[in-house]
Amino acid sequence: MVKDLSIELCGIKLANPVVPASGTFGFGLELADSFNLNILGGISLKGTTLEPRYGNPTPRVAECHDGMINSVGLQNPGIDALVSQKVPALRKVYDGCIIANISGFSIDEYRTCCAKADACEGIDIIEVNISCPNVHNGGMAFGTSPDAAADVTRAVKSVCKNKPVFIKLSPNVTDIVAIARACEDAGADGLTLVNTFLGMRIDIKQRKPVIANTMGGYSGRAVFPVALRMVYQVAHACKIPVMGCGGVASAEDVIEMMMAGATAVQVGAENLRNPFACPEIIEALPDKLEDLNIESIKDIIKVV
Ligand SMILES: Cc1cc2nc3c(=O)[nH]c(=O)nc-3n(C[C@H](O)[C@H](O)[C@H](O)COP(=O)(O)O)c2cc1C
Repeated sequence: MVKDLSIELCGIKLANPVVPASGTFGFGLELADSFNLNILGGISLKGTTLEPRYGNPTPRVAECHDGMINSVGLQNPGIDALVSQKVPALRKVYDGCIIANISGFSIDEYRTCCAKADACEGIDIIEVNISCPNVHNGGMAFGTSPDAAADVTRAVKSVCKNKPVFIKLSPNVTDIVAIARACEDAGADGLTLVNTFLGMRIDIKQRKPVIANTMGGYSGRAVFPVALRMVYQVAHACKIPVMGCGGVASAEDVIEMMMAGATAVQVGAENLRNPFACPEIIEALPDKLEDLNIESIKDIIKVV
């Protein structure tokens, strides 16, 4: 029986590779009454910005075949509440890897937020979501241009002296490898991919979009093959570690993502369908690895 599911990300040991993805697990404590959080390899917290945000108008969610669209709009209490309240409260009940997910609408905002996260004792890894619009550049998302992605990376790396920085990539690009390489060259310690895919639904009775903001981010089981392809391409083009994300819903999916090149694997929308998705996946992993004659989970990273 495979007992050791541990992996290492930039020198940080995770008990297993399974991490709930940002925005699908709150700030961790919300789920603490449902199961023992300490079985999780890590937790990526809700995306946090400099100022508190109320988020987008409702409806913010549309159900789809094998997935969902969300347009939550980064509702969060702001970076000061994250470092002074949310992380210390989670640390009281959780010993694993805490990943702060940082968003921003300008380079300055990313820099200020990441500096505060870097100074916060309970945080292990800083994950920088570059899918946000740059308000100083016509609203184009930072993550859709190699230059803009590199600018954010350089800015946050200049202030993060204590913690590894993972840049979280958008899949809404023609060449994700070019963006990944730009981030690596600019000093990123790791990459998380992917974020959600831009999508839309229409209420055919009312003849109007289901989502109040018309479009939103599509994710869930249906995106798995596309996310896997991007993880494979990026992991083979870059030397820094990759956290794979997108459509993961089973132990088999985790193994597949790791074979494609992921060192850790994030589970997103599936947590909203089944709040016990992560513990169930972690429980199923040892038997699944044994079925495949895999002795150590580390051995399967990037074998394809
Ligand atoms: C409701 C919801 C909220 C999300 N909020 C964030 C966020 O704040 N920051 C972020 O980087 N990604 C956010 N994401 C994206 C997920 O972390 C993940 O990258 C994406 O959903 C793909 O994984 P999945 O197919 O497993 O859902 C959110 C996703 C969902 C479904």
